[in-house]
Amino acid sequence: MADNKPAILSVYDKEIELPILKPTVGPEVLDIRKLYGQGDVFTYDPGFTSTASCDSEITFIDGDKGELWYRGYPIEQLAEKSHYLEVCYLLLYGELPDAGQLEDFENRVTRHTMVHEQMNNFFRGFRRDAHPMATMVGVVGAMSAFYHDSTDISDPWQREVAAIRLIAKLPTIAAMAYKYSIGQPFVYPRNNLDYASNFLHMCFAVPAEDYKVDPALAKAMDRIFTLHADHEQNASTSTVRLAGSSGANPFACIAAGIACLWGPAHGGANQAALEMLQEIGSVDRIPEYIKRAKDKEDPFRLMGFGHRVYKNFDPRAKVMKESADEVLDLLGIENNETLKVAKELEKIALEDDYFVSKKLYPNVDFYSGIILSAMGFPTAMFTPIFALSRTVGWISQWKEMLSDPQNKIGRPRQLYVGSGKRDYVDVAKR
Ligand code: CMC
Repeated sequence: MADNKPAILSVYDKEIELPILKPTVGPEVLDIRKLYGQGDVFTYDPGFTSTASCDSEITFIDGDKGELWYRGYPIEQLAEKSHYLEVCYLLLYGELPDAGQLEDFENRVTRHTMVHEQMNNFFRGFRRDAHPMATMVGVVGAMSAFYHDSTDISDPWQREVAAIRLIAKLPTIAAMAYKYSIGQPFVYPRNNLDYASNFLHMCFAVPAEDYKVDPALAKAMDRIFTLHADHEQNASTSTVRLAGSSGANPFACIAAGIACLWGPAHGGANQAALEMLQEIGSVDRIPEYIKRAKDKEDPFRLMGFGHRVYKNFDPRAKVMKESADEVLDLLGIENNETLKVAKELEKIALEDDYFVSKKLYPNVDFYSGIILSAMGFPTAMFTPIFALSRTVGWISQWKEMLSDPQNKIGRPRQLYVGSGKRDYVDVAKR
């Protein structure tokens, strides 16, 4: 990987050679692993703005061009031509499946969609008004108490079973969290339905009536899953890797990822973005919110705008915007005020110097809430849907990490700025 001349770093009177690693595409990377040993210094990079924490073959983002590839395939092509379970196979195993491999994979996932019956009781320990993400963190973490036979991370077969179980059961768990929050009975998975239709069925069917999933809505749901499936070393994925680096079991690691995803700067932004659009309410109030977003004294930010890596349109947001139009059209929702506010807000922000100079563009969360809300999901379900879609990315990255011979426990260092050494003073003398 290192076929360049090394970079030379001068630290006081020492010159230290840092190998330059070459990626397939993207910026080169300075290998600083020996820096502390040779130079007795650490590097300082809060928020990892310039630090690669691993090598990975899974996902590539070109933030300046606004490109996203899964295993080399552009997201736009996958969103248009593929479907979620095929994308899951691609992310997990590295190549698109042939027809037989796809059928086998779909069968395996479908056969694992039910959860242990005892888990129903576990749900009942939560308050009905709990946020479904709170329930998901707990229930997914508790999977390690239900599926002991897939927690031995040194066994490749158990790792594989855990991966399939997580991909298969997360929609069931998310739908159960939703049903529990609205006081309706759990709806068991249906193995004659495809992945997205099954999820919609578990969320919206009730035992008292027949429920037929609209195939066009299932397709839109599937596309939302695909667009969220992986996004290289973002905060929740890095959390999963860090948790996994200590040897923690896969269910505990994914629960850690879900906890991290919940924050409004990350996956929680889809809920926050729709709530913001609803709060703005009408096009004439947009300037007031743009002004607030630009005011350094005001903590308000335009939710669904900006990204650490994209300094251009988030390619997922483009597809999502088209999908929003399609879904509202399909459902016969005309003159949707929230969509109108979203489009106008986007237009105004993209012409505003503040947003232009800081390269702040709409991200994936800006339009997804409009689609999910039109489908009938409450805002609290937006982030759980992100979590179930991202599970395949997390588990693919976790598996990749475990099979990497360079894998070590993650252990960042710090710049200590606390007190110098001092002696303990008895409480009576303080
Ligand atoms: N509204 C107003 N100003 C913003 C926004 C925004 N949404 N995002 C960034 N800025 C400003 C920020 O104040 C800073 O200004 P200055 O340089 O004058 O201090 C500058 O742009 C750079 O922002 P940053 O916070 O240093 O950038 P970051 O890379 O640390 O943060 C972010 C990225 C996504 C957390 C941030 O853009 C944000 O908070 N956006 C809103 C929340 C959101 O939509 N999150 C979803 C991200 S995409 C999906 C996902 O990851 O789950």
